[in-house]
Amino acid sequence: MRVLSGIQPTGRFHLGNYFGAIRQYIALQNNEQAFYFIADLHALTTVRNPADLLGYTHDAALDLLALGLNPEQATLFRQSDVPQVTELTWLLMTVTQMSLLEKCHAYKDKLARGIAADAGLFTYPVLMAADILAYDSNLVPVGLDQVQHLEVTRDLAQRFNHIYQTEVFVLPEAHVIAETAKVPGTDGEKMSKSYGNTIEIFEPEKKLRKKFMAIKTDSTPMEDPKNPETDSVFTLYKLFASLDEQSALADRYRAGGMGYGEAKQALFEKALEYFSVARERRAYLEAHPDEVEAILQAGAAKARAKAQEVLTRARNACGLNR
Ligand code: TYM
Repeated sequence: MRVLSGIQPTGRFHLGNYFGAIRQYIALQNNEQAFYFIADLHALTTVRNPADLLGYTHDAALDLLALGLNPEQATLFRQSDVPQVTELTWLLMTVTQMSLLEKCHAYKDKLARGIAADAGLFTYPVLMAADILAYDSNLVPVGLDQVQHLEVTRDLAQRFNHIYQTEVFVLPEAHVIAETAKVPGTDGEKMSKSYGNTIEIFEPEKKLRKKFMAIKTDSTPMEDPKNPETDSVFTLYKLFASLDEQSALADRYRAGGMGYGEAKQALFEKALEYFSVARERRAYLEAHPDEVEAILQAGAAKARAKAQEVLTRARNACGLNR
């Protein structure tokens, strides 16, 4: 059983990335053949500064390893270290209908926000399909916003298999955890870099506190009862706290007499405690870039070997065999 997922190095990872995806990567690395990669080719559709891309990619590796990704169990690599995937992208592109890509929300949302689309942005889901299909992936842990791209992937795999009348590609399934599939940001909308509402996992302590304190709440006065179910502070608190802690805080919401400031402080303290080990590990990794690079190189070698096997199958099916 192959588990695979990718994450874009477009800036520092936030709580949405962690609870929606990274936590699942780690939970699935123990008993599965896990492949996780840093999607630097996808990031090129938004990051146009080479120093930034290199920096974000290095940070992404540090963050993933610090958060618990264990290179002795899972394979970690950079997308751009596996050229087989870009070749496979072309093979898939030739069976991709324009109308399929025109329906993709991620592309439509960007268009709606006035971002001029280039071919990279438009064909982004085809590269993503190649990422997944290149390794015979069965299970792909992702947040809700990527589910449609998984459907595109299945669609392309089926079309290719059908056209060439061979089972070249394995059909993957999305692995989505309902409670954390759409983590809200500081404004209550989905946490997303493009909405400017993110809380980054490894923000320095002072800045982190500031971000938690800035979470938007309603204007219920301090003395009055409050509804935990509709409040973003409580929604985020639930991600970090035990069931007992959750119900204790919910009781205080309902009783009244507690201001949102106090709830935010409790949330901040929980988050700090939750990531404290990861912070220490990150500091170590930051001082040992050679170890990190060696992990990425070893991961890439394993990934290339698998991708070559699948690419050869696909080439043979199309008549590109020699
Ligand atoms: P990306 O880099 O935008 O996000 C990485 C992962 O984080 C999840 N996520 C969230 N989950 C819950 N709540 C949120 N607010 C939230 N924000 C982000 C995303 O769903 C994702 O799982 N196209 C992908 C990267 C990619 C990929 C792949 C993923 C490239 N190739 C192959 C899987 C398989 C992306 O842009 O994710």
